[in-house]
Amino acid sequence: MVIEKNISLKPFNTFGIDVKAQFLANIDSISALDEIYRRAEFIPLPKFILGSGSNILFTKSQRKLILKIDIKGISQVAEKGNDVWIRVGAGEIWHQMVLWCIDHDLGGVENLSLIPGTIGAAPIQNIGAYGVELSDVFDSLEAFEIKSGKILRFNKSQCQFGYRESVFKGIYSGQFIITSVTLKLTKKPKLNIAYGAIQATLDSMGKELNIRNVSDAVIHIRQTKLPDPGQLGNAGSFFKNPIIELPLYEALKEIYHELPSFPVDDVSIKIPAAWLIAQCGWKGKKFDRIGVHEHQPLVLVNFGGGTGQEILKLSEKIQSSIQKKFGIDLIREVQVF
Ligand code: FAD
Ligand code: EPU
Repeated sequence: MVIEKNISLKPFNTFGIDVKAQFLANIDSISALDEIYRRAEFIPLPKFILGSGSNILFTKSQRKLILKIDIKGISQVAEKGNDVWIRVGAGEIWHQMVLWCIDHDLGGVENLSLIPGTIGAAPIQNIGAYGVELSDVFDSLEAFEIKSGKILRFNKSQCQFGYRESVFKGIYSGQFIITSVTLKLTKKPKLNIAYGAIQATLDSMGKELNIRNVSDAVIHIRQTKLPDPGQLGNAGSFFKNPIIELPLYEALKEIYHELPSFPVDDVSIKIPAAWLIAQCGWKGKKFDRIGVHEHQPLVLVNFGGGTGQEILKLSEKIQSSIQKKFGIDLIREVQVF
């Protein structure tokens, strides 16, 4: 196995933060994982599991062995009526897999087009966009248990998916490496265009309703709203949209009549963090090498040469201004290392 030493992580994170890793290994099979966790020289090294680095912020050099998950393969594993199950290696790129599904006339993931990252990271925060979450199409996953070296299978309920949450971010954090994910797709999709902008985009493109066109509409919307990490360093939404209790919402609505919200359940409601951040005057602010995106204030950006520490400090200032003005705690979506 090739282990690279003292390597810059700049190409391996979408913020483009230039920190060094002590060691980096490309993991393209389960046997490569076995080797890493069995060979005496690697045992004492702290490890870090890396996909495409699109939901992380590096704030310091990583004195670790970085395991870049590159396990490939997409295959159909079962079919029953209109349902089709596909098993995907953790290192496959999520959007490439979405395109594969569309090419094979399999519906279910079209609303999740163009989300950066790998399949193996998708369950970690139960990725979601445009009214669909991974959990809607998730069947099961396989993961390497670090302490035993065994491959275990998790079904949907065992993953305890929530809004940008799973058991792998919670109680099992740091204990498993996801090696493959099995999705349940359909040959007869019920298209989800409830997210207003999708229908409007399809209409403006003059396109009929099918999975490819829904995917194209989502890609179009995303490209107009979110910065391309290839052009401008970022990790998507830096914070989660806060879910607050109804009494706080009602008190705020008295003051801010235009406060936007999305229903969650009988006792709580979701507030767009982008709106809160914009209200505090952060939208489009530039601080030397870093800043807040001009169109989507939930996205913090690195114009080039910014450090993780600078971005983290900016995020903390945003959090405290939102707490002061609205009494709401913004929780980070991006994981800081
Ligand atoms: P990484 O950033 O490499 O890792 C994320 C976390 O998962 C780390 O803790 C890492 O240790 C762990 N991890 C990675 N792979 C594995 C594995 N195989 N086993 C165990 N742990 C692992 N997210 C959304 O939900 N919806 C969006 O619409 C969305 N839009 C985005 C837009 C942009 C422009 C960007 C840059 C990001 C966006 N994101 C979005 C966030 C990001 O795309 C997802 O969180 C994605 O799943 C991260 O994948 P990754 O491979 O880059 O993970
Ligand atoms: N808004 C403003 N000002 C702005 C932008 C947005 O007030 O400048 C308000 C508006 O009220 C708007 C609302 O924010 O209706 C929601 O904005 P948007 O549709 O852009 O979505 P979001 O809530 O900011 C979430 C996800 C995204 C996902 C999109 C689409 C989170 C934390 N973010 O963003 O996911 O792509 O919806 O479904 O839930 C990510 O997780 O990294 C990510 C990009």
